[in-house]
Amino acid sequence: MGNTRANRRFRSQEWFDNPNNPGMTALYIERYLNQQFTREELQSERPIIGIAQTGSDLAPCNKIHVFLMDRIKAGIRDGGGIPMEFPVHPIQETGKRPTAALDRNLAYLGLVEVLHGYPLDGVVLTTGCDKTTPAMLMGAATMDIPAITLNGGPMLDGWWQGKRAGSGTVVWESRRLLSEGKIDYEEFMSRVCASAPSLGHCNTMGTASTMNAMAEALGMSLTGCSAIPAPFRERMNMAYETGKRIVQMVLDDLKPSDILTREAFENAIIVNSAIGGSTNAPPHLQAIARHAGVELDVTDWQKVGYDVPLLLNMQPAGEFLGESFFRAGGVPAIMAELKKAGRLHEGAMTVTGRTMGENLEGQASQDHQVIRPYDDPLREKAGFIVLSGNLFDSALMKTSVISKDFYQRFLSRPGQEGVHEARAIVFEGPEDYHDRINDAALGIDENCILFIRNVGCVGYPGSAEVVNMQPPDAVLRQGIDHLPTVGDGRQSGTSESPSILNASPESVVGGGLAYLQTGDRVRLDLNAGRMDALVEPAEWQARKEAWVPPVLENQTPWEEIYRQNVGQLAQGGCLELATAYQKVRETLPRD
Ligand code: FES
Ligand code: MG
Repeated sequence: MGNTRANRRFRSQEWFDNPNNPGMTALYIERYLNQQFTREELQSERPIIGIAQTGSDLAPCNKIHVFLMDRIKAGIRDGGGIPMEFPVHPIQETGKRPTAALDRNLAYLGLVEVLHGYPLDGVVLTTGCDKTTPAMLMGAATMDIPAITLNGGPMLDGWWQGKRAGSGTVVWESRRLLSEGKIDYEEFMSRVCASAPSLGHCNTMGTASTMNAMAEALGMSLTGCSAIPAPFRERMNMAYETGKRIVQMVLDDLKPSDILTREAFENAIIVNSAIGGSTNAPPHLQAIARHAGVELDVTDWQKVGYDVPLLLNMQPAGEFLGESFFRAGGVPAIMAELKKAGRLHEGAMTVTGRTMGENLEGQASQDHQVIRPYDDPLREKAGFIVLSGNLFDSALMKTSVISKDFYQRFLSRPGQEGVHEARAIVFEGPEDYHDRINDAALGIDENCILFIRNVGCVGYPGSAEVVNMQPPDAVLRQGIDHLPTVGDGRQSGTSESPSILNASPESVVGGGLAYLQTGDRVRLDLNAGRMDALVEPAEWQARKEAWVPPVLENQTPWEEIYRQNVGQLAQGGCLELATAYQKVRETLPRD
């Protein structure tokens, strides 16, 4: 594809080369000359490409991008563009308190302001850690200038005593062993640290690998980008190719709105089931779709994705980690299997300028232990079930992590397959859970379901990853690793717990979970797609009328702004007012 610029003026020329306003043009241009650029190049009618830098010392999952920057810039130069790197508000999943989820929308807002207010014609979105990917894609969707994602890649595989130690997943397992007294604090720390052997993001199919696979499935990254481990030379090459490619996208005016279509989102949902992806993908994809103006609903996850088989054998749903996934062919190999089975919208446009179907030509699994053929999967029907009932309008259950043991224990009573009735134990948040989980007075046993509330977008604030509550130590010692758990928060994508989560609306805004009491009977019916508190309607109504919303205390100004404007997880946890702003690039900011 050659230079197809036609006679368009670039946005950046409105800053750097506006003959109608020499005064402002001079002012805009002079300070960019004092270090790196010459007047000739800034006025050379070449596209100016922003590089949204999400890595820093505070954001180690994305720090690889600091080292990839030379290659991205070289690609942009060789493509004929001019690179300008700029910082993004850090969103480190493991570092930010109270939760990185609070900052996805803040980084989104920051990105929109940068893309709108500065002389940029296209952008490379560096991604990696969980929320960085959706934040960048949400901003690109709102702005709608040409954009391409480049993730940093997963860390190398972690190993502990001859076994793979996967990010996050090793934490949940080791935490149980610590509670049971089978390992001590030192071994606990060593096991967890062993899972992080190099630069890169989580090496499991947690939220980071999931969301980068989603970016690729949506058509927003180059083919094969997402699974390349961070330290590999292929990652460097991909950085260069991505830089080169964005320049041509600007020349061709290939925008997010050409790529982020309903078909692209359906492809992403299908890929998510096939990879055993994170329960955080639904709110993030929902947010991207809303900013892109695409109709998507939480129930689409079941309608479109439930009957897709699990093809990828990677933790937490399987056994391998990122290096094996890459060597087996990564996302293109998964998608090639789905394409062969007729499950993809092959005509969806992508950043390559070709359709997804074209990008996948010649791709195939290189290792059937890691990426299974469509007709010989690890598990049939591996997508999410979307539940509703009197406790919430919607909540998700990830079926690919329902273990045989869990199914037999809770969901296979003769004649009652898929149904579980039990006593509710209700916690008011993670602090209350930690204080009381081992309280013998609660009498927690395997006939209980653990509930946690006040941990949604408004409640926490930001929504906390706490629904995968560990059973009491005494229950663990009986060999029961998981009790059914339910909550209006989220859980880590690295968790192997089949929780019922993302319940919307959340309790602090009056969702049904608010009226549940410890001791109530609750019925889960997977066949009917329902979960209900078995409380008399009159009694339920009386509790509703007596309910007093909790007082929410903000610790920072952003928490207050966020709480006033955020929606529910089922709708993507967006700043609701922001969804009205679309194709922002069509208006130039004032001088
Ligand atoms: Fe950053 Fe998992 S904690 S990628
Ligand atoms: Mg997480």
